[in-house]
Amino acid sequence: MSGSPTVRNFWPDTKCAKAFWSQQEVRPYRRLLADTLDWCVPSVGERWLDLGCGSGPLSQGLWERSGGTIKEVIGLDCAAINEVAFAHIRDEATPSPGDRVRFLCHNFSHGLSLFDDESFDHAVSGLSITYAESYSESQGRWTTEAYDRVLLEALRVLRPGGRFVFSVNVPEPKWWKVGLLSLGDLFRAGRPLRFLKRALRMMKYGAWLKQEARIGRFHYLTAEQVCEKLQAAGFEPIEWRRSYAGQAFVFRAVKPHHTHWSFDPGAARDQTCAVGSCLSPGNAG
Ligand SMILES: C[S@@+](CC[C@H](N)C(=O)[O-])C[C@H]1O[C@@H](n2cnc3c(N)ncnc32)[C@H](O)[C@@H]1O
Repeated sequence: MSGSPTVRNFWPDTKCAKAFWSQQEVRPYRRLLADTLDWCVPSVGERWLDLGCGSGPLSQGLWERSGGTIKEVIGLDCAAINEVAFAHIRDEATPSPGDRVRFLCHNFSHGLSLFDDESFDHAVSGLSITYAESYSESQGRWTTEAYDRVLLEALRVLRPGGRFVFSVNVPEPKWWKVGLLSLGDLFRAGRPLRFLKRALRMMKYGAWLKQEARIGRFHYLTAEQVCEKLQAAGFEPIEWRRSYAGQAFVFRAVKPHHTHWSFDPGAARDQTCAVGSCLSPGNAG
């Protein structure tokens, strides 16, 4: 993030992190969580990485869906306060994970050099990689370099055959659609005022995110653009579906057994998702 114009990044702030902890209370998010975990299929002895883990709903989901048989899940996020949420998971999850569900505070815009090549079986990420940010001083603009690097780094740290299952928001997400489908949860919530307060706070951050995406700092891309980037990084095959009241795509991309490591944006443009069958726009909802 060095060299970037003076801009505020709310993500590492405790207030912002905590605002997103309450996402799990609303139905569209729970659906997204289930859609993502359905494509993960965690199993015995696997090591998982959760990029931009927040309070760890995906990490916890992987642990619980595997019945506590995965070897380890590491949640990584730039907001240190999420360690507290992971401590809570270690207390509450069944079976008890001990230190097999761990948190690491790290900014993935700087890459994932803290991990060795092929050190994970699979990786997951929920609505996070969109926020990898990079600013080019020479070009005087935000670029997608950090986003592309996150994909390359995810590929690098996975073993051949490993899956990267992740969600990203659609371009110009309509948060009101998520809000509308969450209204029922307002009345079901034990403390509706607290629920409303949190919802308003999230809307404030939502406006900030959309504004930054419009200037190219964050990246709400089309499914085709994400697919091109995944192919350019070396993932194949690739599938996607819609979720989160239609406001997010869930991707599942596999690291092939023979992979090319260099990133060539020109090649990415030329391919334009040439493997038509790699795109499966299923499951709006
Ligand atoms: C919309 S929240 C999603 C959190 C969690 N994955 C979930 O599904 O509830 C986005 C998360 O990405 C994290 N994040 C944003 N930019 C990041 C960065 N550069 N490095 C690491 N984490 C980042 C934020 O701190 C936040 O926890």
